[in-house]
Amino acid sequence: MTNSINEFIEVRTTLTESELFDDIRKLKESKNAVLLAHYYQEPAIQEISDFVGDSLALSQQAASTQADLIVFAGVHFMAETAKIINPTKKVVIPDLNAGCSLADSCPPDKFRKFIDSRPDHVVISYINCSAEIKTMSDIVCTSSNAEKIIESVPKDQPIIFAPDKNLGKYLIEKTGRDMILWDGACLVHEAFAIDKILALHDKHPEAKFIAHPESTPQILTVASYIGSTSGMINHVKTNPATKFIVATEAGILHQMQKEVPHKTFIPAPAKEDNTCACSECGYMKMNTLEKLYWCLKNETPEVDVSEKIRAKAIVPIQRMLELSN
Ligand code: 13P
Ligand code: SF4
Repeated sequence: MTNSINEFIEVRTTLTESELFDDIRKLKESKNAVLLAHYYQEPAIQEISDFVGDSLALSQQAASTQADLIVFAGVHFMAETAKIINPTKKVVIPDLNAGCSLADSCPPDKFRKFIDSRPDHVVISYINCSAEIKTMSDIVCTSSNAEKIIESVPKDQPIIFAPDKNLGKYLIEKTGRDMILWDGACLVHEAFAIDKILALHDKHPEAKFIAHPESTPQILTVASYIGSTSGMINHVKTNPATKFIVATEAGILHQMQKEVPHKTFIPAPAKEDNTCACSECGYMKMNTLEKLYWCLKNETPEVDVSEKIRAKAIVPIQRMLELSN
C-alpha cells in the first residue's frame, strides 16, 4: 500500500458524501470495476453500488460480471465466494476484518472430524462459511435456495447441514428431511428478544412480524413470514399490510423503505446483553463509504484464495449455481 493513512484521514474529513459518490463513480468507470453490496450495508454504500442483493443474487452477479475489478461491500465469505468464481479477477473488500460470526462458528479441523465420522452423508453447507468448509461440502446453498437444494438430494440419502443450526432446524421442518446439524449460529439473529418483540407487537397490533431463518425457533414460531433478505423485501412489497416488525439486520430497512416508501418498518429489538441491544451486524458495518472509496482507489485490501482450496471450493458453489438457474 503506497498511500499513507493521512490520505485516508483527509478523505474522511474533507470530502462530502456527494464528492465521495462522484469520485467513486469516476474511479469505477476508469477501472472497469463493479460494486456489489449486500442489503445489510450502510445506506450510502447501497446507493452508490451497481447491484444490491442477497447472498445468492450477489454470487450470480459475480458469476456473470464482465468487470475487471470486483469491489465487494459485504462480509469476507461473500467476497471470497466472488474470488472463487473469478480467479483471474481482482476482488477487493472495504475492510478485510469484516468477518461473520456464523462462519467463525465452524472451524475446519473440527468440521473435518464431524464429517469423517459420517462418511455416508451428503454435506450441504450454507454459503456463510469459509472456503475451507466449502472444500469439504457437496453442495452450497443460501437462505433463498436451501429448500430446492435439499430437495435435489435423493430422499433416502442422509444429509449433514452446516453451519447454521437455526436455519437447519427450520429446513428440517419445511422439507421433512432428518438432517444432522452442525451446532453453529449467527450472533445477530440469535440476539433477538422474544419478550421485547411481543411487547412491541402489542403496541403495534396491526404490524406483521417477519423474520430471517437464521433466527431461533422461538422467534420463527411467531413470525407471519420467514425468508431470505430478498424474500423479506418481496414480501413487504406484495403483502397488503402497511407496518412490519423486521427480525434481521437493520440495514435491510433502507431497501424496504425505498421500495415501499408509504409503509412503516420497525427493527426487531435485541436482548440487553447484545453489544448495542439493536440488530446491527458489527462485521457488515465495518465497511464504510470512506473505506469503499479507499479500497476502490488503491485496489486493496485484496481477497485471495489459494488455488488448491479454490479448485475444490468451486465445485459445490457451481452445483448451487446450476441448481438455482
Ligand atoms: P441472505 O442470503 O438472506 O441475504 O443472508 C445473508 C446473511 O448473512 C444473513 O445473515
Ligand atoms: Fe454473519 Fe450474522 Fe453478520 Fe450475516 S448477520 S454476516 S450471518 S454475523
